[in-house]
Amino acid sequence: MNKKLYIISNRLPVNIETVNGQVQVNVSSGGLISAVSSYLNYAGEKGSTGFDENIWIGTPCCSQAEWVQAKEGLVKSDFTYLPVFVNARLYNLYYNGFSNSVLWPLFHYFPSYAEYKIDYYESYSAANANFLDVVIRNAREGDTIWIHDYHLFPLAAMIREHLPSVTIGFFLHIPFPSYELFRLMPTQWQQGLLEGVLGTDLIGFHTIDYATHFLNCLQMVMGLGSENNIVTYKNRLVRVDVFPISIDFQKYHAAFSFKEVASLRSFYKQEFRDKKILFSVDRLDYTKGVFSRLKAYEWFLNLFPAYREKVVFIMVIVPSRDTIPKYAERKKEIDEFIGNINSRIGTITWKPVVYQYNQLSFEQLIALYTGCDLALITPLRDGMNLVAKEFVASRQDHKGVLLLSELTGAARELTDALLINPNDLDGLARKIKEGLEMSEAEQSRRLVRMQNRLIQYDVNTWAEDFFTQLANIKKRQTEFEFMFLGQDAKRLLYQDYHLASKRLLLLDYNGTLVPFSPLADQSEPGEEVLSLLANLSADQRNCIYLLSGRNSATLDNWFGLLRLNLVAGHGAKVKRHNEEWLVDRYIHQDDKWRELVMPVLDLSVKRCANTYIEEKEFSLVWHFSNAEPQQAKIRAGELYSELLQLTRNRNLQVVQGSYTVEVRNKGIGSGVLTRTLMSEKAYDFIMAFGDDSTDEEMFKELAGTPHAWTIKIGNEASYAKYNLYTPQMTLSLLNYLHTPV
Ligand code: UDP
Ligand code: G6P
Repeated sequence: MNKKLYIISNRLPVNIETVNGQVQVNVSSGGLISAVSSYLNYAGEKGSTGFDENIWIGTPCCSQAEWVQAKEGLVKSDFTYLPVFVNARLYNLYYNGFSNSVLWPLFHYFPSYAEYKIDYYESYSAANANFLDVVIRNAREGDTIWIHDYHLFPLAAMIREHLPSVTIGFFLHIPFPSYELFRLMPTQWQQGLLEGVLGTDLIGFHTIDYATHFLNCLQMVMGLGSENNIVTYKNRLVRVDVFPISIDFQKYHAAFSFKEVASLRSFYKQEFRDKKILFSVDRLDYTKGVFSRLKAYEWFLNLFPAYREKVVFIMVIVPSRDTIPKYAERKKEIDEFIGNINSRIGTITWKPVVYQYNQLSFEQLIALYTGCDLALITPLRDGMNLVAKEFVASRQDHKGVLLLSELTGAARELTDALLINPNDLDGLARKIKEGLEMSEAEQSRRLVRMQNRLIQYDVNTWAEDFFTQLANIKKRQTEFEFMFLGQDAKRLLYQDYHLASKRLLLLDYNGTLVPFSPLADQSEPGEEVLSLLANLSADQRNCIYLLSGRNSATLDNWFGLLRLNLVAGHGAKVKRHNEEWLVDRYIHQDDKWRELVMPVLDLSVKRCANTYIEEKEFSLVWHFSNAEPQQAKIRAGELYSELLQLTRNRNLQVVQGSYTVEVRNKGIGSGVLTRTLMSEKAYDFIMAFGDDSTDEEMFKELAGTPHAWTIKIGNEASYAKYNLYTPQMTLSLLNYLHTPV
């Protein structure tokens, strides 16, 4: 079948406008368009993206009639354009409103700029439904859909309803904020955004911080935990991962020597001869820190007057969103401030700031990147900032200094830049001086190191990495399913069991053999369980391991007389039949962590009535099954994320159960235990039963092992091959297996 790749973003890489009665095609600006276009061009040159057809869905910012006229004039590219038309009123509320007056300011840590209007949110959903119409008219199961950016959070879940198995990825090009900001939105909006994006298979962010904030919000808003960055939602696995977006390094590197670039560069240098050139280029946006940059520049000229008439600052602002009041205000402020600096400090023959409010051509951009002495990139917040990377890549001559805000995603990778805090005006002014005085040898050393990083992970690696992870998670999803153990499978299992002479039985206890109970004294085995275990263990062909979260004394008390191997504390201690208990070698004997964790749990007990702490041999558990559910859910989320922070880099695990939050020693784990046991003996039959997330390790380990039967108790999807609904069903199955042939 013909496999298509659909790229979806709010904006198409071209936008159409009618000027003096003539339809005009403009190239869209911004990092998203730059990166995705670069990737598609590169893939086109290389042969393909790996798909039979590439299609870009987005708004062309024009009417249908204009689009029809403009279409003829579009340059043939490596993808097909599929326009979405959203009526002007709706588009205004969705784009200027919810996208850029709620999400953009909030996600960039400008909460006071956000306007929480209900019609913004409603229009946002409605506009996403316009995108959905185009998708479902074209895409099929088997295609791959890659959604980009904050305009389209709800879209994936909408598509999933129509195409349940289609592959969907999502990439966020802006920061994802901490929960403290995210929660400023009405709860229903928070849930809508998160549920929407959970319709995907893979969610990508620029940095680990953004991914962590997102996972934390899932926990706090929806009570959803994650394991190794995988979230289970509506019986599907969704992966969250980090993919720092980048540029086509070779394209920017090679452009240094293009003829037109070289001649423009000489022109600019001639124009500003005897002066050091500072350069910046940004879209008009309050997040870019243009205003504080200008203030710091003025401060620099006051602090170090010797530099007057020896420097010029070329500042280019690319028009963007200027119909939004906050943007228009910022534009006015910048215009005025530049006028002020030039009149206050400038002279008849010297303008400290040379300013352009317009787009640059590619050649002009590269000539300025490569002709300047210092690139001043000072956003107050930026998801990544590709301008910084482009500047570094273009410097084939290994000259020039990058002064970069540490509040950009790019600063995580470009650590050899002169990093600054954009709010520290004095520091920034002094760093400008340091940059201008940096030796050429030092400039070169820093640029080479940064270029090496960009070569290592360029935009093509970024996209390919994303597609590889997308394919991986799809594969894992096929291993993670719900399948009830029916009569036919039961008969096969019975045959396998009776043909085998060396059987390994791994039985979880709580929730598998007895109904789940968080309370130790309520899960004592009854007569039925004990006699079943006695019967099974009397069979010399069976080697049984009973796995439990209970402590060793309890297990001894309950099962000490049976021919069983016991595993206590979720793998912390193991006792083989007739031997002594052995503490897992990975466990720290040092119990100091309890002193650290206990006060945090104590506080949760105080803050949430009817909850209590259970002290176990290898863990501390906060129980909230008797508490008021709503409040307990919030407290559990808070406690979980606090404990995660607290136990970071320790050999501890924080686990959220149905009514518990538990901190435990990282024991051997059911996966490693299973692997160890299999390596000790050649079993010809293995059967594993479990009900909770810790048992999934054991199921994963056994996936694909011949003669292995894995059974999950409960109605959730799992890595186990089969499901049974209740512990009672486990008991009947085991009884059935035990009946003679
Ligand atoms: N850019 C542009 N038009 C211009 C000047 C620059 O499209 O006149 C490009 C620039 O080359 C870069 C992108 O716009 O690729 C800006 O991306 P960045 O990540 O720095 O910021 P964003 O605009 O996405 O916030
Ligand atoms: C940022 C956003 C993009 C957006 C671009 C330009 O890079 O992440 O989604 O396209 O800015 O903004 P605009 O509103 O003009 O599309």
